[in-house]
Amino acid sequence: MIRKLSIAIAGVALIAGAVPVAPSFAKPPAAAPLPVAQERLWLGSAWYPEQWPESAWPEDLRLMKGAGANVVRIGEYGWSRMEPSEGQYDFGWLVRAVRLAAKYDIKVVVGTPTDTPPAWLTEKYPDTLQVDGSGKRLGHGGRRQFSISSQRYRVLARDIVTRMAQALKDEPNVIGWQVGNEPTDESYDPEARAAWVAWLKARYGTLDALNEAWTTAYWSQTYSAWDQVPFNTDKGNPGWMLELKRFITAQWGEFHRNQRDAIRAVVGPKPFITVNLGGLGWADRFDRYAINRDLDLASWDDYVGTGHLKPYRNGATHDLVRGWKRRNFWVMETQPGFVNWAPVSNILYPGETRAMAWQAIGHGADAVLYWQWRNALNGQETMHGSVVGPDGKPLPIYPEIQALGREFAKASPMLAGTSPVSSVALLQDYPSRWAIDFQLHHRDYDQIEVLLDYYRPLKDALGAVDIVEAANAPLDGYKLVVAPSLNVITDAMAKRLADYVQRGGHLILGPRSGMKDAFNRLDPQRQPGPLAELLGGRVEQFYALDEKVAVGDGSASIWAEQLTPTSPDTRILLSYGKANGWLDGKAAVITRNVGKGSITYVGALVDDHVMDELIGAAVRDAGVTRDFAVPADVELMTRQGQGRSIVILINHGSESRTVALPETMGDVLAGGQMRSVTLPAQGVAVLSRSVRGKP
Ligand code: GAL
Repeated sequence: MIRKLSIAIAGVALIAGAVPVAPSFAKPPAAAPLPVAQERLWLGSAWYPEQWPESAWPEDLRLMKGAGANVVRIGEYGWSRMEPSEGQYDFGWLVRAVRLAAKYDIKVVVGTPTDTPPAWLTEKYPDTLQVDGSGKRLGHGGRRQFSISSQRYRVLARDIVTRMAQALKDEPNVIGWQVGNEPTDESYDPEARAAWVAWLKARYGTLDALNEAWTTAYWSQTYSAWDQVPFNTDKGNPGWMLELKRFITAQWGEFHRNQRDAIRAVVGPKPFITVNLGGLGWADRFDRYAINRDLDLASWDDYVGTGHLKPYRNGATHDLVRGWKRRNFWVMETQPGFVNWAPVSNILYPGETRAMAWQAIGHGADAVLYWQWRNALNGQETMHGSVVGPDGKPLPIYPEIQALGREFAKASPMLAGTSPVSSVALLQDYPSRWAIDFQLHHRDYDQIEVLLDYYRPLKDALGAVDIVEAANAPLDGYKLVVAPSLNVITDAMAKRLADYVQRGGHLILGPRSGMKDAFNRLDPQRQPGPLAELLGGRVEQFYALDEKVAVGDGSASIWAEQLTPTSPDTRILLSYGKANGWLDGKAAVITRNVGKGSITYVGALVDDHVMDELIGAAVRDAGVTRDFAVPADVELMTRQGQGRSIVILINHGSESRTVALPETMGDVLAGGQMRSVTLPAQGVAVLSRSVRGKP
């Protein structure tokens, strides 16, 4: 039974805006020109010409060109050079930098400088400064000290961005714009609070509706005036907390659209507009799907920090980012060897920087840009890895990036217009992430790790796995859909998932699924709430585990739920063995066939062995075609499109590995044909395989 929401909600569009329904990973027909962001493989770096005398620019660009770069990002921290004092503008240097880059055949992505307001602005308009969660107003000297909710700051941002756009609108060398850089913290200033109250009024209409949705009878939280609703507290009601996240998302959306619209109005439709969403792909301070709906291109920063590349986790993060728009994306920043901010800012192994770039491409990136080209002589980041030294001469990493540049140039014609294509999707959902993390119940319940538990065997079976938005991504193209921890299931989501199963799809729900509604309110039906009827089963009780329990021929840890089939045709796939007493002999995994489809509920966090068996069976039952097997440490990635099928292999291990290919493939980087390929540690192969039915 799909339950009815008891209150009508006004202003739902405030959360996410219109949701376009597009086919999964829709690609343009072969003949249509590709969008510029996808038309080739892009290689480049962040470059700060404002930090150097103009006489040094040609040598910087010559060396970039020599490394195979075809793009630079400039401008994003340059406000005080663009507007040295209020109303005094100087874009001459920016235009000259763009034109000089053109001479070297290097395209430009322009960053808007709103992450670093100049000192005169902060001094004159202190009300534009952010108030952080502790109630402290930030000051000048760092970055991102502005309030996203300040209307004055938005006006000032719109002004500088409009003037930049006017200065650059006739520069064909500018291919794209980046709004701000890495949105991070919201503000808790009085203006932000007023915006919060206005947002709540628009969303709920009446306080009665809000009181009901948040069950404010609990702890005497009932509100009789809008201004009583808390804004900044870390001990809030779960309903309040979910709404605060949605409000922050809406504030960032407004902040970005303000600049996006200003740019678009001046430069027209051609250049792309993106927001670089930063180095923590899984970060959930706000909803990344909602933010990306306003943008042409998703982009993020791929940093390792301490240690070395974790292939599954990093690959899954790329897949997450690809899922933000269900399209290829850009790695707007990555480390040229090492960073400056990690506990140990060690360098990657020789070859690992190159392997990391190819992993990004294998997961659907069309661009890799290093941060940064050349470090400023002072400032907070002088210790960061860069491509050339403070003397402007190549550092030891330069030849590795140069080799990558040659490879990108060779592979670009084959890879342009191709994307990873998968018949399996993992569902990701920010409200569920927030809801679980807010009431964790077991300190080790890490939703990313839970997702990765499912991802690993799927990735081993397939060259590509999608990670998409639970609430909106079209599911029909997928044979198998896995929702690792879909805690919040609204009626609309339940209907989409039920339709998918009824049309023949295979759905797996992980633990903690279907417990809460859109207001973070417990569903009075037992889990999986609105999907319990379809499953023909329910969760009797959940348990945080302080010790392992036996499941099938393996074990579960951290979390286990006692399941009961409620329909005669619901089958028990796995049961608990001798467990914690409450779970002994009870069902751990149940499944039900629905027409040609099925719905399965996995009630526990099972070990790798049990997960391999579960996923192995699910892949078989769903008729998912496995790709060819590769040895341990080797990652297989695939991209398709434009009548081409490309395989990328990376050996992430420290020993050489030989991969037997299922058919003869063309070696895109070295030329020739091969039936097997030997990859040294950090080795990469880019291969082209015949597309079925074509020669
Ligand atoms: C990014 C940021 C860059 C630089 C870099 C250092 O998060 O966008 O400006 O600070 O980190 O790793």
